[in-house]
Amino acid sequence: MRILLAEHIAPAGVERLRAAGFLDDATGVDRAELLVRAVRCDAIVVRSATRVDAELIAAAPNLRVIGRAGTGVDNVDVDAATSRGILVCNAPQSNALSAAEHAVALMLALARNIPQAHAALTDGRWERSRFGGVELSGKTLAVLGFGRIGQLVCARARAFGMRVVAYDPFVSSDRVRERGAEQATSVEEAVTDADFVTLHLPASAETRQLVNARLIATMRRGVRIINAARGDLVDEAALVAALDAGHVAGAALDVFSAEPITVSPLFGRDDVVVTPHLGASTREAQDRAGTIIADQVVRALAGELVENAVNVPGVSEAERAAVAPYLPLAEKLGRVAVALADGVVGSLEISYDGAIADRDTRLVTLAVLRGALAGLDDDGANLINARSLAEARGIDVRETRRPAGAYTSLIRVATSETSRVSGTTIGSDNRPWIVRALGYQLEIELAGHMLFLVNDDRPGMIGSIGHALGAAGVNIANMTVSRNRDGGSALSAIQIDGPPPQAVLVALCATPGLTGVRSVVVDDAP
Ligand code: NAD
Ligand code: MLT
Repeated sequence: MRILLAEHIAPAGVERLRAAGFLDDATGVDRAELLVRAVRCDAIVVRSATRVDAELIAAAPNLRVIGRAGTGVDNVDVDAATSRGILVCNAPQSNALSAAEHAVALMLALARNIPQAHAALTDGRWERSRFGGVELSGKTLAVLGFGRIGQLVCARARAFGMRVVAYDPFVSSDRVRERGAEQATSVEEAVTDADFVTLHLPASAETRQLVNARLIATMRRGVRIINAARGDLVDEAALVAALDAGHVAGAALDVFSAEPITVSPLFGRDDVVVTPHLGASTREAQDRAGTIIADQVVRALAGELVENAVNVPGVSEAERAAVAPYLPLAEKLGRVAVALADGVVGSLEISYDGAIADRDTRLVTLAVLRGALAGLDDDGANLINARSLAEARGIDVRETRRPAGAYTSLIRVATSETSRVSGTTIGSDNRPWIVRALGYQLEIELAGHMLFLVNDDRPGMIGSIGHALGAAGVNIANMTVSRNRDGGSALSAIQIDGPPPQAVLVALCATPGLTGVRSVVVDDAP
């Protein structure tokens, strides 16, 4: 296992990575060298300075995991990674507190002109009247983006006696109330009465230049703006114009539209406080970011679904544990379903009955898709890219659920009205069993290589099947037969030791009374 370390992380994280495989320390190398080193890596670990874009991803054919030691993944092309089945994970819990404290520090510095006063005094000027400030107490703070950092900033602002108005359409009003804030239903409503506006949103196409001339015009004259999230959120030219016009009384910025940056019309002004992207730059946050990301990357390389994966559904640890026993079953049912399909697979209907219907089944659905895609010869399918690969093949995926059924939990996968398979898990080790296929009731463990044969229900059929397999030296490990009615047709599900030679399948197809022959690699066991 080869892990490419593109930027510095805490020593404890480096040690964890080193213990897991070969650590290729590429900190400080230029882009061209990074592209060369990427060729052999299985994982890459970055902070915010390295662009893990389509070019870098394409240069790394073995890449399976991208670890971002921090929060924002805007320097990672998550779509390009997802379509290649590469897991992207981050460490969002590592630096939220540091970033929140930094935002509050910027707000205080801005309110009391601390950096400017410090610079003047150390420059030999005692200028008390020049640096009069404002109090925070009694003022209104608009928090745009009420996630981890927004809520931490809110708690600290409330302690200063501020009124907080939050705007975040994805956070419930109960949560906003619990945090002692008022909820605004639009960004304009949030900022209209604000004395201070602080940004805690991710950078995205939707949030790009959210703070622009139009929004600033809806703010009251004398507003102060703090940005410790991402530079792209602010139209910097519009901010400069609003500062020049006196509409905005001041701004405190930790982040910029281009970084690193040393020259800007925002620099060298008394009404603007700046820091060079220091929100996460505390010893504590860096220690946490390094160790968390190293742990995530190592576990992800070992095949675990890590909790900070950003391109697989964010399922809680408890839900993940509850559905984990069903993932092998789901994948095998997906493989069998497409093998028994009566034509091109254009849709997959996945039904959950019983206890599993009460669970968060998103990962289970992805496991069905992965199995189905593997059955359709898409060997590169995994839980990360399964949905996009299914979409690319035009497979329509639907989920239904029923609270109770004949089994404690049952998963049914249908490719058409008539082509359905159902399974459940058996025993304390959750062995995957198929219990219904193509309308026949049956009970057999889903394992290894299997044959599913539809034959007339008449004497001698099982003997003919056994003879055809025996003659080719194919050993039957397990077998079950189920008929729909006396003298009708029957389904034989047969587990065999190894893949059947093509000649056997031809012989079976030619056997009188055998009307359907399907061979399935149910799992990749030898
Ligand atoms: P988070 O995901 O916990 O919170 C972001 C919130 O923004 C979410 O609640 C989401 O619902 C909300 N949101 C998304 N789009 C929105 C929209 N269009 N309008 C309103 N709300 C929207 O993230 P976080 O950990 O709080 O981080 C917030 C930002 O801070 C990120 O951009 C992150 O990269 C940045 N950050 C900067 C530093 C730094 O060093 N300056 C450190 C850490 C994080
Ligand atoms: C983050 O998103 O985690 C911060 O911007 C900090 C960083 O990139 O180091």
